[in-house]
Amino acid sequence: MKITAAVLNAPNAALSVEGLELEDPRDLEIRVRLVATGVCHTDISVMRRPFPVEQPIVLGHEGAGVVEAVGASVTKVKVGDRVVLSYNFCGQCPSCQRQAPSYCQYFFGTNFLGQRRDGSTALSRQGQPVRHNFFGQSSFASHCLCTETNVVKVPDTVSHELFELLGPLGCGIQTGAGAVINVLKPQIGSSLVVFGAGAVGMAGVMAAKALGAATVIAVDKVAERLQLALELGATHTILADGTVDVVSRIREITAGGADCSLDTTAVSAVLRQALDCLAPLGRCGFVGGAPVGATLEVDVRDMMLNGKTLRGIVEGDSNADDFIPAILRMQAQGLFPFEKMMKIYPFESINEAIADSLSGATVKPVLRMAA
Ligand SMILES: NC(=O)c1ccc[n+]([C@@H]2O[C@H](COP(=O)([O-])OP(=O)(O)OC[C@H]3O[C@@H](n4cnc5c(N)ncnc54)[C@H](O)[C@@H]3O)[C@@H](O)[C@H]2O)c1
Ligand SMILES: [Zn+2]
Ligand SMILES: [Zn+2]
Repeated sequence: MKITAAVLNAPNAALSVEGLELEDPRDLEIRVRLVATGVCHTDISVMRRPFPVEQPIVLGHEGAGVVEAVGASVTKVKVGDRVVLSYNFCGQCPSCQRQAPSYCQYFFGTNFLGQRRDGSTALSRQGQPVRHNFFGQSSFASHCLCTETNVVKVPDTVSHELFELLGPLGCGIQTGAGAVINVLKPQIGSSLVVFGAGAVGMAGVMAAKALGAATVIAVDKVAERLQLALELGATHTILADGTVDVVSRIREITAGGADCSLDTTAVSAVLRQALDCLAPLGRCGFVGGAPVGATLEVDVRDMMLNGKTLRGIVEGDSNADDFIPAILRMQAQGLFPFEKMMKIYPFESINEAIADSLSGATVKPVLRMAA
């Protein structure tokens, strides 16, 4: 069928909204008509090459849409169901077997290569292949193909207005929330610092507040983002404008060091601050998509003598089928107001949405597809 999609035709190029051809779903595939899709910083990193992929490709991995067609072997969803699309995994490797699908041994292949496991792609332009299947979806499009592994059914009770905002639960929000809820697990009354008050960091702030952390510190270079972090549950903010010693300031606020920290900036110098600001036995998690080959120098004695932990985290260790409905229930109780960080753009304004994310003007852009 003919579809509309935003294509990355070359490294560092703007996305180009074009007409493409999409194959019918195979046996295990599901065709979704996208209603809206979020922009995650990882899409932008792929465009700008810290994570190189082949072009032409359709990116986008925070889709929300309606099931339009299913292959013969699909039982999880049916035509007409509303779904959120999340990351992809193989379902069979040792990580997947032990319920840790975000550490699937084939995570790179199933999410970043832009093709099916047999090497084929379902998208084409005038007979020439265009890569699809980015994070098992390629949601910067009017329609996409995905599979049972990465669709999560949305309850009928969710309004259409809220449904449009749910795509980011499939990546950025479950990453920040899951890093705090599933991995760092701050105790009630404890302290947690989030470095980078973007979409992932804000989700971490909301999660820390919901869990009862007494001190939640947000650090960012953009003052407006810190203002929003305060509204979402931060108790303190630090503007990292180069004039403040961030680690000393955190030690002051927490009377000696933070219990937990989460780095979302992908900047090694900031990750080092996230380690240095910890109290004894403090735990640091990081999710930033650093460029290939990025390294970190740690103070080995400080790590050992203070019993500090450093943990990389993918997708918040979340199992989307369980975690996304849980976040929705928290949102319904006013405990997780993710809608406050979102701004809706028409799909055709995708490059403007990306520019606004990079400038800091919009925390989480959501692209609405023409009905
Ligand atoms: N590990 C995962 O599973 C996973 C999932 C989603 C996103 N990511 C990655 O997480 C990161 C955050 O994603 P996002 O969508 O929230 O991005 P974002 O651009 O919205 O947020 C990043 C924030 O970091 C701030 N920042 C940058 N440099 C800083 C510095 N030196 N000091 C303080 N703050 C600084 C920026 O101002 C921005 O607010 C990206 O690298 C993305 O690729 C990882
Ligand atoms: Zn696997
Ligand atoms: Zn993402």
